[in-house]
Amino acid sequence: MNFIKVDSYERLSKIAADIIAAQVILKPDCVLGLATGSSPLGTYANLAEKCQKGELDFSKVTSVNLDEYVGLDSGNDQSYRYFMNKNLFTKINIDINNTNVPNGCADDIEAECLRYDKLIESLGGIDLQLLGIGLDGHIGFNEPGDKFIKGTNLVTLDPSTIEANSRFFASVDDVPTKAVTMGMGAIMSAKKVLLIANGKNKKEIVEKSFFGPITPYVPASILQLHNDLTVIYSEN
Ligand code: F6R
Repeated sequence: MNFIKVDSYERLSKIAADIIAAQVILKPDCVLGLATGSSPLGTYANLAEKCQKGELDFSKVTSVNLDEYVGLDSGNDQSYRYFMNKNLFTKINIDINNTNVPNGCADDIEAECLRYDKLIESLGGIDLQLLGIGLDGHIGFNEPGDKFIKGTNLVTLDPSTIEANSRFFASVDDVPTKAVTMGMGAIMSAKKVLLIANGKNKKEIVEKSFFGPITPYVPASILQLHNDLTVIYSEN
């Protein structure tokens, strides 16, 4: 593991964007696994800037996002598809048809989970997976539990995740209670994993995840077994 501690969110975002940029330059038709939430906003802004300056070309890149809330469609400004379009896809020259987010409004969520895993497999897997981390150690929306789940799956969000994410909604009651998330299989099969975390409130879970025992009760701890993991943490 390459653990990089930096002193600002700006620095974290710049390093993360540089790592992703290197991936795109080295393999222009790469598959990027992407995350939502507040952590990657600075990274995405840096990538958009590089692309707008002509330093980076996303035209051959394919993306697969980690997760989506059940019941929120692409027009809902809290859906993760909306987030990705707004914060990244409309700001870079990626072909929108090559961007993928699980469909949280599928009639048959089980079939949607299978479709998503087949899609990732048909793309040849993920070259670089960007992750944030939840206060309870979730990656994607793989919440703490008694086992690691391999495939894309339907999850019931942990009350602490609902509480944490309520900052984006009018009230805690508006936060969906279920989500579709990529499972640990696709994440762990990614050739490179880049996890970004910032804030004093993430310090404890970052320590537990990367310097504590590997356990499904701390989902991110499984990443200790990945052979190309970079973690960037900023306390500020
Ligand atoms: C989002 C995702 C989540 C977030 C995590 C941290 O696609 O997969 O695991 O990365 O909840 O969220 P922030 O960055 O808002 O603290």
